[in-house]
Amino acid sequence: MAYFPDAWLEELISKCDIAALASEYVQLKPRGGRLWGCCPFHHEKTPSFSVSPDKNMYYCFGCKKGGSLINFVMDIENVSFVDAVRQLAERVGMELPEHSDEKGAVQNREKREKMYSATREAALFYHQRLKQPMGREACEYLAKRGVSAETTTAFGLGWAPDGWDGELFKHLNNNGYSPETLTEAGLCSKSKKDDSKYYDWFRGRVIFPIIGSYNRVVGFGARAMGNEQPKYLNTSETPIFNKRKILFGLNRLKGKNPGRIILVEGYMDVIGLHEHGIVNAVASLGTALTQQQARLLKNTVSEVILAYDGDFAGQKATLEALKTLEAEGLIARVLSFPNGMDPDEFLLSKGEDAFRALCDEAVSQNSFRLNYLKSDYDLNSEDQRMAFARAGSNLVSQFSPVEQEHYFAELASMTGFSRETLALEAQTAGIREVHKNTVTNYRNTRNAMTKLPSEDDRRRNAEGLLIRLAIDDPAYIPRIEEQKQLITGAGATALMDTLKDMPRGDPEALQVFVSRMEGNASSCFAQCMSMPECEDPETCFSECVAELIRLDRESEIEKLQQQFQDDTTTKDKKAELLRRIGELRGKNDEAEGRGYEP
Ligand code: GTP
Ligand code: MN
Repeated sequence: MAYFPDAWLEELISKCDIAALASEYVQLKPRGGRLWGCCPFHHEKTPSFSVSPDKNMYYCFGCKKGGSLINFVMDIENVSFVDAVRQLAERVGMELPEHSDEKGAVQNREKREKMYSATREAALFYHQRLKQPMGREACEYLAKRGVSAETTTAFGLGWAPDGWDGELFKHLNNNGYSPETLTEAGLCSKSKKDDSKYYDWFRGRVIFPIIGSYNRVVGFGARAMGNEQPKYLNTSETPIFNKRKILFGLNRLKGKNPGRIILVEGYMDVIGLHEHGIVNAVASLGTALTQQQARLLKNTVSEVILAYDGDFAGQKATLEALKTLEAEGLIARVLSFPNGMDPDEFLLSKGEDAFRALCDEAVSQNSFRLNYLKSDYDLNSEDQRMAFARAGSNLVSQFSPVEQEHYFAELASMTGFSRETLALEAQTAGIREVHKNTVTNYRNTRNAMTKLPSEDDRRRNAEGLLIRLAIDDPAYIPRIEEQKQLITGAGATALMDTLKDMPRGDPEALQVFVSRMEGNASSCFAQCMSMPECEDPETCFSECVAELIRLDRESEIEKLQQQFQDDTTTKDKKAELLRRIGELRGKNDEAEGRGYEP
């Protein structure tokens, strides 16, 4: 990893102008001391992307991305910290510092090339072993799961021999690959008992090669044939493999313009669909869909059909994936499989025609959202029917006007309340929220006027403001540490851990510090800085803490409601749950009355 001295980075930053840089990607207009434009990181029609030239920061109020100008280059060009710094240095004509070594970069590239070639050789090795007598059992396993020989070849499936004597290691090492390359590429490991020995990472498993851009093998998924745990062993993070940035099966669609893509959860789903002539399926690699993956999809197609497993986890993941896709401006429809089946199982048991019929019935994302919400309530109970009507009208009020017309009608037929009542409910809830905003004086009012802040937004705002207090005045650091358990956002938690080391009073040093932050911390920092400075920090502090406590109670209430929904919950337990829900609601109403009175 290249190394840049802080002082050199500070000089670089002082020579760059974030407004000029961002203007090359976004049309910016000045308003209220900032520059505004439509966000380049998510799809939108009204500008919520802002640049503060004085702070040299950017922040989007819509997708909550933000940070220094180095972070901006990293995000918009999708490059690493090092590459972003290189690009900026070139732009302003600064020589790279001696120790940052271009030589290192060349060496790194060569090292990576070696790894690519090692993983390709490994894929060939596994594939050949599958075809040899030792691979017979694996072939039978695949056949039993309905995978033909053609599909096996098309995906380059393989067999990793069992045993600890490092067959793959010996094969590749004899072919000139160093133990370091093989270890770093995630193929082999050094034996703990004997320093001179290496063993193979994948043993006695069916191999699914994972292929990235430029058709390079970057990693592997490896499935146990029996009930051994874990079911799948995957390549962990290596210099050439990051599971968050790759989709299984996407390489086969590049340049083919498939029109739409079916997004599934598992390797076997992609393969099962392919077996039945449905070749446009891809899978994320056992994690929730990431933004980078959504962007890959966006670069390939304009429509996505989500076909996650029909179980509860799959439905929940669908809801999350919809959000991620929407943020990238992708339209998605949703397929639902009966009885908790996954796409592969559905195809095997019901056949292709049933699958295609299901595809034609794929519902729009908003219809899915409303129905998912509905599944939380028992509409035979008067209380819950009303609760659903309230929650549903809140949801629908966030849709576009045309969709609102459609879904208020649907909600009306679900709940028995009239469309007018439901629309009014959403409106008054909106007014209540806006009112709360002005009173607490800490929420982004502009957002609040156009859209109801979600629980996530409220949490983010309260957390952000608390941290902002600590950024402005270190005396708040220990007091916020005391409330640590209230702060749960990934960015906020990471940012909090850096507070003690944050350079103060030196804007350039602060910029460098922020650029080096990991994960979402830089975005969270930009969010904190985008909030107005607080006039009355003490009141603000106690309001934010009160808000977070209330949000915790609200999510506790949600959890209890879910238990209440559960069919296995007994009558007595339900009564107890209702009592506790009532108690929590009471506490929240009370807190609201006290802490937020105008
Ligand atoms: P089958 O169970 O063989 O039908 O595989 P599947 O592809 O349908 O897998 P499943 O739906 O259970 O899981 C979806 C994806 O999550 C898999 O394709 C893997 O990428 C990942 N995955 C599943 N189980 C594990 C595990 O035990 N460990 C890891 N690391 N990943 C897993
Ligand atoms: Mn499966």
